[in-house]
Amino acid sequence: MIKRTIETTVEIYGFDELDAAKQRLINKAKEQVSKAYAPYSNFHVGAAIELENGEIFAGSNQENSAYPSGLCAERVAMFFANAQYPDVAVKTLAIAAYTNGNFLEEPVTPCGSCRQVLLETEQRFEKEITILLYGTNHVFQLKNVKQLLPLCFEKSSLNG
Ligand code: THU
Repeated sequence: MIKRTIETTVEIYGFDELDAAKQRLINKAKEQVSKAYAPYSNFHVGAAIELENGEIFAGSNQENSAYPSGLCAERVAMFFANAQYPDVAVKTLAIAAYTNGNFLEEPVTPCGSCRQVLLETEQRFEKEITILLYGTNHVFQLKNVKQLLPLCFEKSSLNG
């Protein structure tokens, strides 16, 4: 038996330690939670994306009475950005979540399906996406999507 350990590196920052561009993107994600449609979970999520060309797109979670038909904020934002600019890489993604009258204290982390979609965009453009996960206590920064999804299924997996 061989045991292999896979490491993920998370950098932990105070909001004030981040540069202005990252603070701006997080603030955009925070603003976006007010636009969520989340009457079933009351869990309001905002995602903001900065493209390499400087354009910023944002999205919020959109729920549905048929629960699986809804979509997370990250995918709403990412699909929207990719649909508008299919040839421009994504530089940074920021996520924030709000429930019971407060932003989460600990950084919100994307669900598995979103991680898979974010990875596709990272690999599609061959450009690492910086991930900023906001919490009121601190912000997690990851240098790419792969950090969020080790042992992933990817395009090359289809080749057998
Ligand atoms: N949700 C997101 O939008 N992003 C996440 O990272 C986690 C979960 C949404 C999906 C659903 O509308 C609600 O939050 C509760 O799961």
